Amino acid sequence: MKRIVVFTGAGVSAESGLGTFRDSDGLWEKYRIEDVCTHEAWLRNPQLCVDFYNARRRDTLAAKPNAAHYAIAKLQQSVPGTRIITQNIDDLHERAGATDVIHLHGEITKLRSENNETATVPLEGWEQHYGDRHPDGSLLRPYIVFFGEGVPYFSEACEVASQADMMIVVGTSLNVYPAASLLHYAPAGIPIYVVDPGEPELGMWRDKVTHIKKPASVGVPELVEQLLG
Ligand code: APR
Repeated sequence: MKRIVVFTGAGVSAESGLGTFRDSDGLWEKYRIEDVCTHEAWLRNPQLCVDFYNARRRDTLAAKPNAAHYAIAKLQQSVPGTRIITQNIDDLHERAGATDVIHLHGEITKLRSENNETATVPLEGWEQHYGDRHPDGSLLRPYIVFFGEGVPYFSEACEVASQADMMIVVGTSLNVYPAASLLHYAPAGIPIYVVDPGEPELGMWRDKVTHIKKPASVGVPELVEQLLG
């Protein structure tokens, strides 16, 4: 069975209206990472972190999957060995019909225990109220992997990547590690497609991949059509 790995970043959700991080109008142009996306920020000003992720959760709930999300879900339904690994915290892959998605950096629709990085609870609606507690008694916090924190599902993602027959990378600048190192876990010589209108940090991969310089909503459906024949 063909094992296709689809690895996505913020660019796959850009055309759904959700901001990327490092494009000219990206989120990190408007907010400082050290204010809202580090453990120190959470300890120093938890309400600011809660407010930041409440705003992003509200945007996520208002957003809709785009043609790229639907094409990726169609690929997974047509080729059952397809796995999706995303850096995104939105649920647009799932809302387009994808299953068993590995979220490396957390999920905006869940909260987690302060004591246990994988002890999550679903959050109904967009608003977390700071001070609510997890059943384990600790304070609830956004289920987001903050900068400097461990990436709990990275080893599972590496295992999946190491068994790929093909990799499709969509909408990531490949700036953030360890996520960006996933390409290194793919078996040598497998076909790797990159769908991105910009210039991700491909480094040594530049000459080894097929770079489709189109927006995800155009390039991904075209690629999936080509692959499914
Ligand atoms: N279609 C495809 N790709 C796009 C589109 C689009 N319509 N618009 C932008 N892009 C590309 C950009 O060219 C860029 O390569 O998406 C990528 C976005 O890069 P980043 O903003 O760095 O997002 P990402 O790579 O997902 O960031 C990784 O950084 O801040 C952390 O945890 C956060 O998961 C995030 C991680």
